[in-house]
Amino acid sequence: MPSGPLTGTRFHRNSAGILCCEGRPLTEIAQAFGTPCYVYSERTLVESYQQFAAAAAEKNALICYALKANSNLALIALLAAEGAGFDIVSVGELQRVIAAGGQPNRIVFSGVGKTESEIAAALGAKIKCINIESEAELHRVAQVASALRLTAPISLRVNPDIDAKTHPYISTGLKENKFGIPMDLAEAVYRQAKTMPSVMITGVDCHIGSQITSLPPFLQALDRVLELVDRLNAADIEIQHLDLGGGLGICYDGETPPTPQALLGAIFERLHQWQQTRRSPQPEILFEFGRAIVGNAGVLLTRVDLLKPGPHKNFAVIDAAMNDLMRPALYEAWHGVAAVSPSAAQEATWDLVGPVCESGDWIARDRRLALSPGDLLAVLSAGAYGMSMSSNYNSRPRAAEVLIDAQGQAHLIRRREEFTDLIAAESIPDYLRK
Ligand code: LLP
Repeated sequence: MPSGPLTGTRFHRNSAGILCCEGRPLTEIAQAFGTPCYVYSERTLVESYQQFAAAAAEKNALICYALKANSNLALIALLAAEGAGFDIVSVGELQRVIAAGGQPNRIVFSGVGKTESEIAAALGAKIKCINIESEAELHRVAQVASALRLTAPISLRVNPDIDAKTHPYISTGLKENKFGIPMDLAEAVYRQAKTMPSVMITGVDCHIGSQITSLPPFLQALDRVLELVDRLNAADIEIQHLDLGGGLGICYDGETPPTPQALLGAIFERLHQWQQTRRSPQPEILFEFGRAIVGNAGVLLTRVDLLKPGPHKNFAVIDAAMNDLMRPALYEAWHGVAAVSPSAAQEATWDLVGPVCESGDWIARDRRLALSPGDLLAVLSAGAYGMSMSSNYNSRPRAAEVLIDAQGQAHLIRRREEFTDLIAAESIPDYLRK
Protein backbone atom coordinates (compact mmCIF):
# COMPACT_ATOMS: atom_id res chain seq x y z
CA MET A 1 0.00 0.00 0.00
CA PRO A 2 1.37 3.46 -0.84
CA SER A 3 2.18 5.53 2.21
CA GLY A 4 -0.10 8.48 2.80
CA PRO A 5 -0.72 11.12 5.42
CA LEU A 6 -2.76 8.73 7.57
CA THR A 7 -0.10 6.00 7.58
CA GLY A 8 1.21 5.45 11.07
CA THR A 9 -1.47 7.63 12.65
CA ARG A 10 -4.45 6.77 14.83
CA PHE A 11 -6.92 7.91 12.16
CA HIS A 12 -8.57 4.89 10.52
CA ARG A 13 -11.78 3.94 8.76
CA ASN A 14 -14.18 1.67 10.65
CA SER A 15 -16.07 -1.22 9.09
CA ALA A 16 -18.78 1.18 7.89
CA GLY A 17 -16.12 3.17 6.06
CA ILE A 18 -16.35 6.15 8.43
CA LEU A 19 -13.13 7.96 9.24
CA CYS A 20 -12.42 7.66 12.95
CA CYS A 21 -9.80 8.80 15.41
CA GLU A 22 -9.02 6.13 18.01
CA GLY A 23 -12.23 4.40 16.96
CA ARG A 24 -14.31 7.52 17.53
CA PRO A 25 -16.19 8.44 14.31
CA LEU A 26 -15.40 11.96 13.18
CA THR A 27 -19.11 12.33 12.41
CA GLU A 28 -19.71 12.27 16.19
CA ILE A 29 -17.02 14.86 16.76
CA ALA A 30 -18.60 17.17 14.19
CA GLN A 31 -21.99 16.70 15.78
CA ALA A 32 -20.73 17.40 19.29
CA PHE A 33 -18.39 20.29 18.56
CA GLY A 34 -19.44 21.69 15.19
CA THR A 35 -17.27 22.52 12.20
CA PRO A 36 -14.74 23.75 11.23
CA CYS A 37 -12.87 21.95 13.95
CA TYR A 38 -9.33 20.75 14.40
CA VAL A 39 -9.15 17.18 15.71
CA TYR A 40 -5.91 15.88 17.22
CA SER A 41 -4.95 12.37 18.15
CA GLU A 42 -3.14 12.26 21.50
CA ARG A 43 -1.43 8.98 20.74
CA THR A 44 -0.27 10.04 17.29
CA LEU A 45 1.28 13.17 18.78
CA VAL A 46 2.94 11.37 21.67
CA GLU A 47 4.13 8.50 19.49
CA SER A 48 5.69 10.93 16.99
CA TYR A 49 7.57 12.61 19.80
CA GLN A 50 8.58 9.23 21.22
CA GLN A 51 10.12 8.23 17.90
CA PHE A 52 12.51 11.14 18.24
CA ALA A 53 13.09 10.44 21.92
CA ALA A 54 13.85 6.78 21.15
CA ALA A 55 16.25 7.77 18.37
CA ALA A 56 18.07 10.00 20.86
CA ALA A 57 17.95 7.56 23.78
CA GLU A 58 21.34 6.97 25.43
CA LYS A 59 22.63 10.14 23.76
CA ASN A 60 23.25 13.42 25.45
CA ALA A 61 20.38 15.05 23.57
CA LEU A 62 17.24 17.10 24.06
CA ILE A 63 14.29 16.99 21.67
CA CYS A 64 12.63 20.37 21.73
CA TYR A 65 9.20 20.92 20.26
CA ALA A 66 8.92 24.05 18.12
CA LEU A 67 5.80 25.66 19.55
CA LYS A 68 5.05 27.69 16.46
CA ALA A 69 3.78 24.56 14.72
CA ASN A 70 0.91 24.31 17.18
CA SER A 71 0.85 26.00 20.55
CA ASN A 72 -2.33 24.66 22.11
CA LEU A 73 -1.76 24.30 25.87
CA ALA A 74 -3.05 20.74 26.00
CA LEU A 75 -0.59 19.60 23.33
CA ILE A 76 2.26 21.38 25.12
CA ALA A 77 1.23 19.70 28.38
CA LEU A 78 1.29 16.27 26.72
CA LEU A 79 4.78 16.87 25.33
CA ALA A 80 6.03 18.37 28.60
CA ALA A 81 4.89 15.22 30.40
CA GLU A 82 6.95 13.20 27.90
CA GLY A 83 10.03 15.21 28.84
CA ALA A 84 10.24 17.37 25.73
CA GLY A 85 12.09 20.64 25.63
CA PHE A 86 10.64 23.59 23.74
CA ASP A 87 11.75 26.00 21.03
CA ILE A 88 10.00 29.35 21.41
CA VAL A 89 10.05 32.54 19.34
CA SER A 90 8.15 35.02 21.52
CA VAL A 91 7.31 35.80 25.12
CA GLY A 92 3.80 34.55 24.37
CA GLU A 93 5.21 31.14 23.58
CA LEU A 94 7.33 31.29 26.75
CA GLN A 95 4.22 31.98 28.80
CA ARG A 96 2.42 29.12 27.09
CA VAL A 97 5.14 26.62 27.99
CA ILE A 98 5.14 27.79 31.58
CA ALA A 99 1.31 27.77 31.75
CA ALA A 100 1.28 24.20 30.42
CA GLY A 101 3.82 22.98 32.98
CA GLY A 102 6.93 22.84 30.77
CA GLN A 103 10.32 23.37 32.36
CA PRO A 104 12.03 26.69 31.57
CA ASN A 105 15.47 25.09 31.73
CA ARG A 106 14.49 23.06 28.66
CA ILE A 107 13.53 26.08 26.56
CA VAL A 108 15.55 27.61 23.75
CA PHE A 109 14.53 30.99 22.35
CA SER A 110 14.92 31.61 18.59
CA GLY A 111 13.88 34.46 16.30
CA VAL A 112 15.44 37.47 14.59
CA GLY A 113 13.70 40.21 16.56
CA LYS A 114 13.51 39.49 20.26
CA THR A 115 12.62 42.65 22.15
CA GLU A 116 14.29 43.83 25.35
CA SER A 117 11.28 42.87 27.41
CA GLU A 118 11.15 39.42 25.82
CA ILE A 119 14.83 38.89 26.56
CA ALA A 120 14.30 40.05 30.15
CA ALA A 121 11.38 37.65 30.58
CA ALA A 122 13.41 34.76 29.18
CA LEU A 123 16.37 35.52 31.43
CA GLY A 124 14.08 35.92 34.42
CA ALA A 125 12.54 32.52 33.71
CA LYS A 126 16.04 30.99 33.49
CA ILE A 127 15.63 29.37 30.12
CA LYS A 128 18.31 27.11 28.72
CA CYS A 129 19.58 29.27 25.88
CA ILE A 130 18.94 32.34 23.77
CA ASN A 131 19.74 31.75 20.11
CA ILE A 132 21.24 35.01 18.89
CA GLU A 133 20.58 35.89 15.26
CA SER A 134 22.70 39.05 14.75
CA GLU A 135 25.48 41.12 16.22
CA ALA A 136 22.97 43.80 17.16
CA GLU A 137 21.00 41.22 19.09
CA LEU A 138 24.11 40.06 20.91
CA HIS A 139 24.61 43.58 22.18
CA ARG A 140 20.97 43.84 23.17
CA VAL A 141 21.04 40.58 25.11
CA ALA A 142 24.30 41.53 26.83
CA GLN A 143 22.90 44.87 27.87
CA VAL A 144 19.60 43.48 29.17
CA ALA A 145 21.42 40.75 31.12
CA SER A 146 23.86 43.22 32.56
CA ALA A 147 21.06 45.56 33.70
CA LEU A 148 19.40 42.60 35.44
CA ARG A 149 22.73 41.44 36.89
CA LEU A 150 22.22 38.08 35.21
CA THR A 151 24.31 36.03 32.83
CA ALA A 152 22.65 35.17 29.55
CA PRO A 153 23.34 31.65 28.20
CA ILE A 154 23.67 32.11 24.46
CA SER A 155 24.38 30.39 21.21
CA LEU A 156 24.74 32.07 17.84
CA ARG A 157 22.38 30.91 15.14
CA VAL A 158 24.63 30.55 12.16
CA ASN A 159 23.47 30.56 8.58
CA PRO A 160 25.31 27.72 6.84
CA ASP A 161 24.19 28.71 3.33
CA ILE A 162 22.71 25.29 2.56
CA ASP A 163 19.85 24.77 0.16
CA ALA A 164 17.20 22.84 2.06
CA LYS A 165 15.39 22.19 -1.25
CA THR A 166 12.03 23.21 0.11
CA HIS A 167 9.51 25.99 -0.57
CA PRO A 168 11.30 29.38 -0.72
CA TYR A 169 9.08 30.81 2.05
CA ILE A 170 10.15 28.08 4.47
CA SER A 171 13.81 27.92 3.53
CA THR A 172 15.91 29.69 6.13
CA GLY A 173 19.50 28.57 5.73
CA LEU A 174 20.50 30.37 2.54
CA LYS A 175 22.59 33.49 2.68
CA GLU A 176 19.78 35.53 1.11
CA ASN A 177 17.47 34.57 4.00
CA LYS A 178 17.09 36.93 6.96
CA PHE A 179 18.02 34.26 9.48
CA GLY A 180 21.19 33.71 11.41
CA ILE A 181 24.70 35.06 11.26
CA PRO A 182 26.67 34.30 8.08
CA MET A 183 29.16 31.50 8.64
CA ASP A 184 32.18 33.61 7.75
CA LEU A 185 31.27 36.24 10.37
CA ALA A 186 30.33 33.82 13.10
CA GLU A 187 33.77 33.34 14.58
CA ALA A 188 34.31 37.08 14.97
CA VAL A 189 30.95 37.47 16.70
CA TYR A 190 31.77 34.57 19.04
CA ARG A 191 35.08 36.27 19.90
CA GLN A 192 33.15 39.41 20.74
CA ALA A 193 30.67 37.49 22.85
CA LYS A 194 33.53 35.96 24.78
CA THR A 195 34.60 39.39 25.98
CA MET A 196 31.15 40.23 27.34
CA PRO A 197 30.83 39.54 31.05
CA SER A 198 27.03 39.28 31.00
CA VAL A 199 26.84 36.54 28.39
CA MET A 200 27.97 32.95 28.59
CA ILE A 201 28.57 31.11 25.34
CA THR A 202 26.96 27.69 25.57
CA GLY A 203 26.23 26.56 22.04
CA VAL A 204 26.04 26.83 18.28
CA ASP A 205 22.64 26.84 16.63
CA CYS A 206 21.42 26.37 13.09
CA HIS A 207 18.10 25.71 11.36
CA ILE A 208 17.97 25.55 7.59
CA GLY A 209 14.29 25.31 6.74
CA SER A 210 11.12 23.30 7.04
CA GLN A 211 9.46 20.35 5.27
CA ILE A 212 12.88 18.96 4.30
CA THR A 213 12.41 15.48 2.89
CA SER A 214 15.96 14.21 2.38
CA LEU A 215 19.03 13.69 4.54
CA PRO A 216 21.81 15.54 2.68
CA PRO A 217 20.86 19.12 3.61
CA PHE A 218 20.86 18.19 7.32
CA LEU A 219 24.26 16.53 7.08
CA GLN A 220 25.77 19.35 5.02
CA ALA A 221 24.59 21.85 7.63
CA LEU A 222 26.00 19.67 10.40
CA ASP A 223 29.37 19.57 8.65
CA ARG A 224 29.45 23.35 8.43
CA VAL A 225 28.55 23.62 12.10
CA LEU A 226 31.28 21.15 13.08
CA GLU A 227 33.87 23.07 11.06
CA LEU A 228 32.90 26.16 13.00
CA VAL A 229 33.09 24.31 16.33
CA ASP A 230 36.64 23.24 15.44
CA ARG A 231 37.60 26.83 14.72
CA LEU A 232 35.99 28.01 17.94
CA ASN A 233 37.72 25.35 19.99
CA ALA A 234 41.02 26.41 18.45
CA ALA A 235 40.22 29.94 19.63
CA ASP A 236 39.56 28.61 23.15
CA ILE A 237 35.83 29.04 22.86
CA GLU A 238 34.12 26.03 24.37
CA ILE A 239 30.84 24.75 23.01
CA GLN A 240 28.59 22.72 25.30
CA HIS A 241 25.73 22.11 22.94
CA LEU A 242 24.86 22.01 19.26
CA ASP A 243 21.31 22.95 18.36
CA LEU A 244 20.61 21.48 14.94
CA GLY A 245 17.16 23.01 14.57
CA GLY A 246 14.11 21.28 13.17
CA GLY A 247 12.79 21.03 9.66
CA LEU A 248 12.12 17.34 9.10
CA GLY A 249 9.28 17.01 6.62
CA ILE A 250 6.19 14.84 6.75
CA CYS A 251 4.15 12.97 4.17
CA TYR A 252 1.45 15.24 2.74
CA ASP A 253 1.31 13.68 -0.72
CA GLY A 254 3.54 10.66 -1.03
CA GLU A 255 6.75 12.33 0.17
CA THR A 256 9.06 9.88 1.88
CA PRO A 257 11.11 11.91 4.37
CA PRO A 258 13.70 10.11 6.47
CA THR A 259 12.27 8.60 9.65
CA PRO A 260 13.32 10.25 12.92
CA GLN A 261 15.50 7.21 13.52
CA ALA A 262 17.19 7.53 10.12
CA LEU A 263 17.79 11.26 10.50
CA LEU A 264 19.03 11.20 14.07
CA GLY A 265 20.97 8.00 13.42
CA ALA A 266 22.85 9.65 10.53
CA ILE A 267 23.51 12.76 12.60
CA PHE A 268 24.80 10.84 15.62
CA GLU A 269 26.94 8.69 13.35
CA ARG A 270 28.53 11.77 11.80
CA LEU A 271 29.05 13.28 15.24
CA HIS A 272 30.66 10.09 16.45
CA GLN A 273 33.18 10.17 13.59
CA TRP A 274 33.95 13.79 14.32
CA GLN A 275 34.29 13.19 18.03
CA GLN A 276 36.81 10.38 17.62
CA THR A 277 39.51 12.75 16.47
CA ARG A 278 38.80 15.37 19.17
CA ARG A 279 39.70 15.47 22.79
CA SER A 280 36.88 17.73 24.02
CA PRO A 281 33.76 16.06 25.47
CA GLN A 282 30.90 15.45 23.03
CA PRO A 283 28.49 18.38 23.11
CA GLU A 284 24.84 17.92 24.03
CA ILE A 285 22.68 17.79 20.88
CA LEU A 286 19.45 19.77 20.69
CA PHE A 287 16.75 19.57 18.04
CA GLU A 288 13.76 21.83 17.40
CA PHE A 289 11.14 19.79 15.54
CA GLY A 290 7.64 21.10 15.01
CA ARG A 291 5.91 19.72 11.94
CA ALA A 292 7.30 16.19 12.24
CA ILE A 293 5.89 15.93 15.78
CA VAL A 294 2.41 17.38 15.31
CA GLY A 295 1.72 17.58 11.56
CA ASN A 296 0.06 14.25 10.98
CA ALA A 297 -1.52 14.17 14.45
CA GLY A 298 -4.28 16.54 13.38
CA VAL A 299 -6.99 16.95 10.76
CA LEU A 300 -9.26 19.86 10.03
CA LEU A 301 -12.86 18.73 10.00
CA THR A 302 -15.08 20.76 7.69
CA ARG A 303 -18.53 20.50 6.18
CA VAL A 304 -19.55 21.05 2.58
CA ASP A 305 -21.83 24.06 2.70
CA LEU A 306 -23.01 24.24 -0.90
CA LEU A 307 -22.02 23.09 -4.33
CA LYS A 308 -21.42 25.43 -7.22
CA PRO A 309 -20.80 23.33 -10.32
CA GLY A 310 -20.00 25.33 -13.45
CA PRO A 311 -18.90 25.06 -17.06
CA HIS A 312 -15.25 25.80 -16.24
CA LYS A 313 -14.81 24.69 -12.66
CA ASN A 314 -16.77 22.96 -9.99
CA PHE A 315 -16.57 24.73 -6.66
CA ALA A 316 -17.52 23.18 -3.37
CA VAL A 317 -17.89 25.89 -0.74
CA ILE A 318 -16.84 24.43 2.59
CA ASP A 319 -17.07 25.97 6.04
CA ALA A 320 -13.28 26.04 6.58
CA ALA A 321 -11.40 28.86 4.90
CA MET A 322 -7.97 30.40 4.52
CA ASN A 323 -8.32 32.01 7.93
CA ASP A 324 -8.55 28.50 9.44
CA LEU A 325 -5.81 26.89 7.32
CA MET A 326 -3.62 29.39 5.56
CA ARG A 327 -1.04 27.04 4.06
CA PRO A 328 -2.70 26.52 0.66
CA ALA A 329 -3.22 30.28 0.16
CA LEU A 330 0.27 31.19 1.34
CA TYR A 331 2.44 28.40 -0.08
CA GLU A 332 0.10 26.66 -2.49
CA ALA A 333 0.50 23.80 -0.05
CA TRP A 334 -1.16 20.49 -0.85
CA HIS A 335 -3.24 18.77 1.85
CA GLY A 336 -4.97 15.47 1.38
CA VAL A 337 -8.76 15.62 1.68
CA ALA A 338 -10.78 12.61 2.72
CA ALA A 339 -14.54 12.19 2.80
CA VAL A 340 -15.47 11.28 6.37
CA SER A 341 -18.33 8.97 5.29
CA PRO A 342 -18.94 7.04 2.08
CA SER A 343 -21.09 9.06 -0.31
CA ALA A 344 -23.76 8.07 -2.81
CA ALA A 345 -23.02 11.13 -4.95
CA GLN A 346 -21.30 11.00 -8.35
CA GLU A 347 -17.58 11.58 -8.30
CA ALA A 348 -16.45 14.82 -9.97
CA THR A 349 -13.47 17.17 -9.91
CA TRP A 350 -13.89 19.88 -7.30
CA ASP A 351 -12.07 22.91 -5.99
CA LEU A 352 -12.70 23.17 -2.27
CA VAL A 353 -12.99 26.83 -1.39
CA GLY A 354 -13.88 28.75 1.74
CA PRO A 355 -16.39 31.58 2.11
CA VAL A 356 -13.70 34.28 2.46
CA CYS A 357 -13.71 37.07 -0.12
CA GLU A 358 -10.38 36.27 -1.78
CA SER A 359 -9.63 34.19 -4.85
CA GLY A 360 -6.72 32.78 -2.84
CA ASP A 361 -9.19 31.29 -0.40
CA TRP A 362 -8.96 27.68 -1.40
CA ILE A 363 -8.10 24.60 0.61
CA ALA A 364 -7.66 22.08 -2.21
CA ARG A 365 -7.94 22.18 -5.99
CA ASP A 366 -8.90 19.69 -8.66
CA ARG A 367 -9.79 16.83 -6.35
CA ARG A 368 -11.83 13.85 -7.43
CA LEU A 369 -14.49 13.59 -4.76
CA ALA A 370 -18.10 12.50 -4.47
CA LEU A 371 -19.75 15.42 -2.72
CA SER A 372 -23.18 16.44 -1.52
CA PRO A 373 -24.05 19.50 0.57
CA GLY A 374 -23.68 18.70 4.25
CA ASP A 375 -20.95 16.10 3.72
CA LEU A 376 -18.07 16.08 6.17
CA LEU A 377 -14.49 16.24 4.93
CA ALA A 378 -11.21 15.84 6.76
CA VAL A 379 -8.33 18.00 5.57
CA LEU A 380 -5.35 15.84 6.41
CA SER A 381 -1.89 16.64 7.84
CA ALA A 382 -3.30 19.81 9.38
CA GLY A 383 -1.81 19.49 12.87
CA ALA A 384 1.18 21.74 12.14
CA TYR A 385 0.90 25.38 11.08
CA GLY A 386 -2.87 25.08 10.85
CA MET A 387 -4.46 26.53 13.97
CA SER A 388 -1.28 28.38 14.91
CA MET A 389 -1.45 30.43 11.69
CA SER A 390 -5.19 30.99 11.81
CA SER A 391 -6.73 34.45 11.92
CA ASN A 392 -10.05 36.24 12.27
CA TYR A 393 -10.02 37.53 8.69
CA ASN A 394 -13.52 38.36 7.49
CA SER A 395 -14.53 38.40 11.19
CA ARG A 396 -14.58 34.65 11.24
CA PRO A 397 -14.31 33.15 14.72
CA ARG A 398 -11.43 30.71 15.07
CA ALA A 399 -12.28 27.02 14.92
CA ALA A 400 -12.66 24.71 17.91
CA GLU A 401 -9.90 22.25 18.76
CA VAL A 402 -10.62 18.77 20.07
CA LEU A 403 -8.19 16.22 21.46
CA ILE A 404 -9.03 12.52 21.22
CA ASP A 405 -7.36 10.50 23.93
CA ALA A 406 -6.16 6.91 23.70
CA GLN A 407 -9.59 5.62 24.76
CA GLY A 408 -11.35 7.57 22.02
CA GLN A 409 -12.71 10.17 24.46
CA ALA A 410 -13.02 13.64 22.96
CA HIS A 411 -11.85 16.68 24.93
CA LEU A 412 -12.52 20.24 23.87
CA ILE A 413 -9.11 21.94 24.17
CA ARG A 414 -10.12 25.24 22.65
CA ARG A 415 -13.70 26.34 22.35
CA ARG A 416 -14.91 27.88 19.13
CA GLU A 417 -14.59 31.64 19.30
CA GLU A 418 -17.68 33.81 19.58
CA PHE A 419 -18.43 37.31 18.40
CA THR A 420 -17.54 38.71 21.83
CA ASP A 421 -14.02 37.22 21.44
CA LEU A 422 -13.63 38.99 18.13
CA ILE A 423 -14.32 42.44 19.57
CA ALA A 424 -12.94 41.89 23.08
CA ALA A 425 -9.87 44.08 22.52
CA GLU A 426 -11.61 46.83 20.58
CA SER A 427 -13.32 49.99 21.74
CA ILE A 428 -15.15 52.95 20.23
CA PRO A 429 -13.74 56.23 21.61
CA ASP A 430 -16.27 58.43 23.40
CA TYR A 431 -16.20 61.16 20.77
CA LEU A 432 -17.53 58.70 18.18
CA ARG A 433 -20.45 57.67 20.35
CA LYS A 434 -23.68 59.55 19.72
N1 LLP B 1 13.41 26.12 14.67
C1 LLP B 1 13.35 27.31 14.04
C2 LLP B 1 14.34 28.33 14.35
C3 LLP B 1 12.35 27.55 13.08
O1 LLP B 1 12.32 28.72 12.44
C4 LLP B 1 11.40 26.54 12.80
C5 LLP B 1 10.33 26.76 11.82
C6 LLP B 1 11.49 25.33 13.50
C7 LLP B 1 12.51 25.15 14.42
C8 LLP B 1 10.52 24.20 13.28
O2 LLP B 1 10.55 23.72 11.99
P1 LLP B 1 9.74 22.37 11.63
O3 LLP B 1 10.37 21.23 12.38
O4 LLP B 1 8.32 22.57 12.03
O5 LLP B 1 9.89 22.28 10.17
N2 LLP B 1 4.43 27.97 8.25
C9 LLP B 1 5.26 27.11 7.44
C10 LLP B 1 6.46 26.60 8.21
C11 LLP B 1 7.31 27.70 8.77
C12 LLP B 1 8.47 27.16 9.59
C13 LLP B 1 9.12 28.26 10.32
N3 LLP B 1 10.19 27.85 11.18
C14 LLP B 1 4.41 25.99 6.87
O6 LLP B 1 3.21 25.97 7.14
O7 LLP B 1 4.89 25.16 6.13
